[in-house]
Amino acid sequence: MRIVIGSDHGGYHLKESIRLDLEQNGYEVVDCGTHSTDSCDYPDIAREVTAQVNADAKTFGILICGTGIGIGIAANKVPGIRAALCHDTFSAKAARAHNNANILTMGERVIGPGLALEIVHAFLQAEFEGGRHERRVRKIAELEGERS
Ligand code: RB5
Repeated sequence: MRIVIGSDHGGYHLKESIRLDLEQNGYEVVDCGTHSTDSCDYPDIAREVTAQVNADAKTFGILICGTGIGIGIAANKVPGIRAALCHDTFSAKAARAHNNANILTMGERVIGPGLALEIVHAFLQAEFEGGRHERRVRKIAELEGERS
């Protein structure tokens, strides 16, 4: 599975921990930066990661900032992106199973790396259930059309 990961400076350390863990677990990881704790703007990182996620339906994204909020708001402005802010494993599984989320967002200033890694694996191992959720996800896409 191919994972595209990115963070701003507020999520840099957690992004590095997740990247290393995913690589050690055999995932193909594309790191869109940032590559230091120097200040940068999370919408720029969201733009990079969302473009790669939209280019391949089997690619998932992980976006980290201080809270996970700003970078998730930015990602969800991009049509085709369903970014879910999850700070617990129950939500991470549901985000895939019910919402067909294609990006997980988290905040480095909110949770520790141990829980964050459990959330990442819960998200990546869950599968979209389809069925009644298919119709709801399709209606999300229809809202995108109404907005533009
Ligand atoms: C950066 O200081 C911080 O605002 C950012 O990482 C994020 O938390 C925004 O939502």
